[in-house]
Amino acid sequence: MSDEKIHQPTILVGVTGCIAAYKSCELVRALQNAGARVKVVMTEHGAEFVTPVTFKALTREPVALELFDDPNAPIHHISLAREADVFVIAPATANVINKLAAGVADDLLTTTALATAAPLLVAPAMNNHMWRDQTVQESLKTLRQRGVMVIEPESGYLACGDVGEGRLAAIEQIAQAALAELKRARDLAGQRILITAGPTREPLDPVRFISSPSSGLTGYAIAEEAARRGAEVTLVSGPVSLPDPFDVAVVRVQTAQEMFEAAKDYFSQSTAAIFTAAVADFRPQATADQKLKKGIDTSADGSLAITMVPNIDILATLAAQKGSRFVVGFAAETQDVVAAGQGKLVTKNADLIIANDVSDPTRGFGSKHNQVWFISADAVEQTKIITKKELARLLLDKVVARFC
Ligand code: CTP
Repeated sequence: MSDEKIHQPTILVGVTGCIAAYKSCELVRALQNAGARVKVVMTEHGAEFVTPVTFKALTREPVALELFDDPNAPIHHISLAREADVFVIAPATANVINKLAAGVADDLLTTTALATAAPLLVAPAMNNHMWRDQTVQESLKTLRQRGVMVIEPESGYLACGDVGEGRLAAIEQIAQAALAELKRARDLAGQRILITAGPTREPLDPVRFISSPSSGLTGYAIAEEAARRGAEVTLVSGPVSLPDPFDVAVVRVQTAQEMFEAAKDYFSQSTAAIFTAAVADFRPQATADQKLKKGIDTSADGSLAITMVPNIDILATLAAQKGSRFVVGFAAETQDVVAAGQGKLVTKNADLIIANDVSDPTRGFGSKHNQVWFISADAVEQTKIITKKELARLLLDKVVARFC
C-alpha cells in the first residue's frame, strides 16, 4: 500500500448481522459520492445478510472479516484502526452495542473499535422490544458518555412485522454525520492550544487546603478532542484523578500561582487558549509550616480566623495581551447566568464565554453532562443537555470557525 493511499481520508464502515445490512451498500455509495475512501469490516453474521463480494465490488477494497485474514497486515485490527479517520457501524445490532459498551473484543469489528483513535459512530437497528431493553439503553448511555455518536433509529415498520422504534436511521443522515466527522479529523492541524483544567489547591497548612469540587472532565475532554483533531495541545491541570489524555502535553500544578506561571509560558506560543479551570479566587494569606492545632492556633472560643488574599485572575491577565489569539473562558454561575457570562466576556477580554449553572447537581461539577450558553459579542446560544465530550466537539467547531 502506498503512503498516499494510507493518508487518503478513509471512512471505515462496520456491518453487523441485521436485515438492514443491505442499506449499508447505499451508505458506502453515499460516502464515496462525497469523495471519501471507504473500507468495510463485517461481523460473521453481517456477512450472512450481504456477501463481502458486494462490498468488495462497491469499494474496490478488500473486505475485512477475520483478525488474521490479511497477509499484508498480520495485525489486521491495528492496521484497520490506523487507516480509519472515522469508523461508522451501520447497522449496529443490540449485541454489538452491548459488546462495545463492555469493551468486548472477540472479532475483527469489535477489536478494531477498541483499537482505533478515530471517532466512532453507531447507527442502531433492531426490533423495538430489543431497542427498549434496559441493557441496550444502558450500553448506549455508556457509549454516549465516552464520546461515541449514536445516530438514533427511526420509528416505523420493522422487518420482523412489528411497528415501533428500531428502524435504521435514514442513510443520508448517517452519511452526513460520518462526513461531518471526517471533516473534523484534522481541522485543528497547525493550531497550538493552551487549556487550563481542574481545580487549584491553596494550602492552609501541610495537610489542609481550599479548593473546589471541579473534576477536570470538561478541560480533559476538550484537550483530548483537540489533539485528535490535529492541534498541538498543552494542558495545565490542577489536581484531578484523570489520566493524561493521549497526545497531549500535561503540566500538573497545585496552586493558582503555579497555574498562572505555567499557563503564561504556553500562552505566548499558543494560537488559542481555553480556560476551563475552577481557579480558587482567594488563598490564605499565610501557609502554616506545621499542622494547625486546636487550642494552639485557635482563639479562646475555638474559632480559627483565616485572612484570605486574592489570587491572580489567570484568564483576565493573559487575555489582556491576547493579540490575535482566540480566547475562551468559562463562567460558573448560580444565578443570572447569561448576564454574568456577558459581563465576564467583557471584563476578561474573552472572545467566547461558556456559561453554566453550577447550582444544579445533575450538571456541571463532577457530572458527565452539562447544559451551557455559548456567549460571544454578537450571539447567545443555549445547548441542550449534552455530554462533556459533545461540549468539547461544539466548542472546537467554534475555534475552527474562527480560524477559517
Ligand atoms: N479564571 C481564572 N483565574 C481566576 C479565576 C477565574 O483564569 N483566578 C477563569 C476561569 O478559568 C474561567 C473564568 O475565569 O474561565 C471565569 O471563572 P469563574 O469562576 O466563573 O469566575 P470568577 O472570575 O472567579 O468570578 P466570580 O467568582 O466573581 O464569579
